[in-house]
Amino acid sequence: MSDDQDSMDIFGDLHPYNSRFGVIDQIPAKGLTQKEILKQVCFMSEEEDKKWETGLVSGTMYHGGKEHYAFLNEVFGSFSYVNLLQRDMCPSGTKFEAEIVAMVAKMLHGDEETCGAVTSGGTESIYNSMFVYREWGRDQKGITQPEVVAPETIHPAFLKSAHYLGMKVIRVPVTADFEADVEAMRAKITPNTVAFAASAGSYPHGVVDPITQLSEVALEHKIGLHVDGCLGGFILPWIEKLGYDVPPFDFRLPGVTSISCDTHKYGYGLKGTSTITFRNKDLRRYMFFAQDDWPGGIYVSPTVQGSRSGGLSAATWAAMVSMGEEGYLKAARAIMDASDKIRAGIAKIPELHIMGRHPTFLISITSDVIDPYFVNDYLAGKGWRMNGCQKPAGFHFCLTLRQSLPGIAEKFVKDLGEAVQFAKNPPYETPKSGFLYGMGSTADGREILQMGMKSFVEAWYDVE
Ligand SMILES: Cc1ncc(COP(=O)(O)O)c(C=O)c1O
Repeated sequence: MSDDQDSMDIFGDLHPYNSRFGVIDQIPAKGLTQKEILKQVCFMSEEEDKKWETGLVSGTMYHGGKEHYAFLNEVFGSFSYVNLLQRDMCPSGTKFEAEIVAMVAKMLHGDEETCGAVTSGGTESIYNSMFVYREWGRDQKGITQPEVVAPETIHPAFLKSAHYLGMKVIRVPVTADFEADVEAMRAKITPNTVAFAASAGSYPHGVVDPITQLSEVALEHKIGLHVDGCLGGFILPWIEKLGYDVPPFDFRLPGVTSISCDTHKYGYGLKGTSTITFRNKDLRRYMFFAQDDWPGGIYVSPTVQGSRSGGLSAATWAAMVSMGEEGYLKAARAIMDASDKIRAGIAKIPELHIMGRHPTFLISITSDVIDPYFVNDYLAGKGWRMNGCQKPAGFHFCLTLRQSLPGIAEKFVKDLGEAVQFAKNPPYETPKSGFLYGMGSTADGREILQMGMKSFVEAWYDVE
């Protein structure tokens, strides 16, 4: 970051370690000792773990158990240096990835035709699905200007993918309940439409879109239907098993043609993996890339990435088989217990309401009478890190296993009550927190909008 003080205020301190360890802006003439490196790394990691171990952070650390992470790291370490593209070297990689996909397909009620791949994260799973619909549309229907129709709540990864792929996402306003508006989406179907996309659950509100109806419309119009289960795909099946009201969203619905489902969220794996599953192999085939005339040899790969670490797939597999159905159910139970307590607490605060008809693991809060960003300001002061949302103004609390720790849900309800009193008569005019993704409560998105959104990311690559 430059020495622009205003920018510093907006971004907070992006470089808290420079004063302690100095700045490295070129390869050191002589390498640092392992001891010195470990000292620095351990210091930074311990500092940063303190931010979420308390249980006050929404999302991001879905498991949060240090023993679980240590176990996954051990598995990761056994294959971290292995390249999954060199399959003769690592039949373990084939075992891990085929089994991950099979387990996810079963969890999502796929059949013997259901297939998929392991990717680097939700965005890549979505990218791959968008690419598949583009290619399918061209091949099967001669579509050259492909369009995907989606509710406006759909994750930005769809627009990002469309941007890269020369596609269009037609965003359709949602209903008053923040659900995809099926008839409005139907009305946007044109001869260029290759697919619908919808969420289970949506990032802003945790809402499961009406996939049953979208499935019918998709079948009627012979278009694809991608369900973005990146966030909810790995927890909703267990919440449903616990008896909660979870609208159907998976391969049980005949029009659903693909689902993205993140192993690095509620799959409780390490960061860096997700899955994309397809209804059948015909669809998946469009995802694969092959070149037969390269001087380097015949080249084929399943997803966007080239070389990939075997460690991540091994650790993902280990997370899944160590959790087992029993572990996933127990985790969902613990998260829903916290959710039940928090929702009951919010019901007693008349100034606030929860968005969406069937809130489960994600509680999205807004207000008609006070500014929710002031509420968030107060919570931030108490150490909470919520995710700010907009349209309407609000914030969400994506519950993880950390919130099932004793006393956390109760503390949240108490602090939320105080935050509402604070927001009724705030001691300053403009709230400090806002709706900037990935910055918790430390920055107000409105200022970023004014200075140009890309400046925010630019700052990530400044050494000081
Ligand atoms: C609903 C939804 N879809 C897609 C994504 C993108 O996933 P990733 O950040 O792993 O690329 C997210 C991430 O939070 C999400 O919540």
